[in-house]
Amino acid sequence: MPTSTPYAVPIVASCLRQLKPTSVLDVGIGFGKYGFVVREYLDVWDLADYRDYGKSRWQTRLEGIEATPEYITPLQEYIYDHIHRGEAQHVIDRLGQYDVIMMGDVLEHFEKDEGRRLIRQLFQHANQCVLLMFPPNCEPNDDVLGNPYESHRSAWSRGDFTGYENMAYRVVEGRTAIVALTKPGCRPPVLTPSFAGRARTGWKGMVARSMVRMMGADRASSLASRLTGRKIVLTG
Ligand SMILES: C[S@@+](CC[C@H](N)C(=O)[O-])C[C@H]1O[C@@H](n2cnc3c(N)ncnc32)[C@H](O)[C@@H]1O
Repeated sequence: MPTSTPYAVPIVASCLRQLKPTSVLDVGIGFGKYGFVVREYLDVWDLADYRDYGKSRWQTRLEGIEATPEYITPLQEYIYDHIHRGEAQHVIDRLGQYDVIMMGDVLEHFEKDEGRRLIRQLFQHANQCVLLMFPPNCEPNDDVLGNPYESHRSAWSRGDFTGYENMAYRVVEGRTAIVALTKPGCRPPVLTPSFAGRARTGWKGMVARSMVRMMGADRASSLASRLTGRKIVLTG
């Protein structure tokens, strides 16, 4: 099916708000859910005037890759600036750089070696971060809907990503794993559904950065939340 479980959606939205990319590549767009998330929370959410809502005001360069042409309809054509048709592992080589590359529920459709190679390719083409979502403990199966691009061929877990220096991993509701692979020199996103996750400036920024450096973003955020009595997400 050209869709996936919804568990990671708020976390992806929050990551996008933290990273503030100006260009995004969505690999295996399917129905286009993550394209809508990009448009809503990067281009529409901060509009100051209802007249800014129109497509001509959208700022983010949003492109997608999709191997199943039958899934691409005017719906996705409207949301994405460009959809590259074909297999991601081949298409990616002729594409440029993107601040964020995301791939939702596609990794499990690859054999393990091919999947690892694709992640390395995506990482090379990312300026800031690669976000991967997939079902943990995925069971292999045959073609779904008669589409070979929908077969489950591999299972992935945290250990598959530990070779990446800046890696964050979280499983939501036991149903969706989300991985953020951040490029050196970029601030990793906190894998939280909270929209409170944002970079702070001034003295608050100095305190936040020191806390995150000393104890990591997750522990710093829970300490700040306990001290203030409200949900605080520190991203450094
Ligand atoms: C399970 S759907 C997920 C769709 C969407 N990313 C989401 O999370 O809702 C997987 C999508 O990836 C596409 N896909 C599978 N293998 C692919 C490949 N090698 N290159 C590009 N797209 C692929 C499928 O055609 C399908 O649209």
